Amino acid sequence: MSYIEDLFDIRNRVYILTGGGGVLAGAIGEGLARAGARVVLLDIRLANAQERAEKIIATGGKALALESNVLDVNVLEYTKDIILQHYGRIDGLINLAGGNMPGATISPEKTIFDLQIPDFEKVLALNLNGTVYPSLVFGKVMAENRSGVIINISSMAAYRAITRVVGYSAAKAAVSNFTRWMAMEMAFKFGDGLRVNAIAPGFFIGDQNRALLINPDGSYTERGKKVIAQTPMGRFGEPEELIGAVIYLCSDASKFVTGVVLPVDGGFEVYSGV
Ligand SMILES: NC(=O)c1ccc[n+]([C@@H]2O[C@H](COP(=O)([O-])OP(=O)(O)OC[C@H]3O[C@@H](n4cnc5c(N)ncnc54)[C@H](O)[C@@H]3O)[C@@H](O)[C@H]2O)c1
Repeated sequence: MSYIEDLFDIRNRVYILTGGGGVLAGAIGEGLARAGARVVLLDIRLANAQERAEKIIATGGKALALESNVLDVNVLEYTKDIILQHYGRIDGLINLAGGNMPGATISPEKTIFDLQIPDFEKVLALNLNGTVYPSLVFGKVMAENRSGVIINISSMAAYRAITRVVGYSAAKAAVSNFTRWMAMEMAFKFGDGLRVNAIAPGFFIGDQNRALLINPDGSYTERGKKVIAQTPMGRFGEPEELIGAVIYLCSDASKFVTGVVLPVDGGFEVYSGV
């Protein structure tokens, strides 16, 4: 094995991806499997996760799709038992389940006083609790083994005020904060083999934001144009462009890195707009 292969080696390691049927999880799962890891795709919609797992298996990778719910600790415990029976170990957790809801979003003709509180609470729960609960259930297995990584998914909305997405922004800011807190806790109490980091993706076209950013004819919406104008690289991200950051954070290449939120955003976050 070359020096570089050794440094980034994640072969045979077992990574759990929540929201495993989603767009970003699909790309990240394929990337991890191509690097020789075994991936477990968890989703509340089993069919989507299964489709992605079958694609990985068809190309020679190792993947398992399971129905699970990041908001239900009992279901997560049951899922954990199945994973341990199947693969016998857990080396990492990537918390990709997340998303938005219309009522937690303030469209231009509305104001903050139209906020739908039940939807606001659901968005906070899915993105924050849906990161915390799997970290408790799967993180405990890794803590007992004194080894493992957790990667959370934050957002540009955690850094900057982005119109419309009030609930989502609050939740992702909390995810960034939880990342730092959990990194400290794991290192103090369970040693330097436990690391917790996050990735903050810029704008990647997914099922949740496609209609907001791209018109049916393929041109950019007004909002899409604003995003591109704020992105020095002048384009949206491709889901595959997250794979390198994930493998880095999973592997020993980042052995002394914990508590960081790594933007993968074409420069969106650093640009002043001037
Ligand atoms: N696409 C982007 O540009 C972008 C940017 C920043 C952050 N993110 C974040 O990245 C993550 C993945 O985004 P995506 O675009 O792939 O979204 P996606 O909607 O394609 O995937 C999310 C998946 O989570 C699953 N899910 C929802 N509730 C669940 C639950 N209770 N238990 C288990 N699974 C559940 C959904 O079924 C879906 O398959 C999300 O946290 C999102 O907020 C995305």
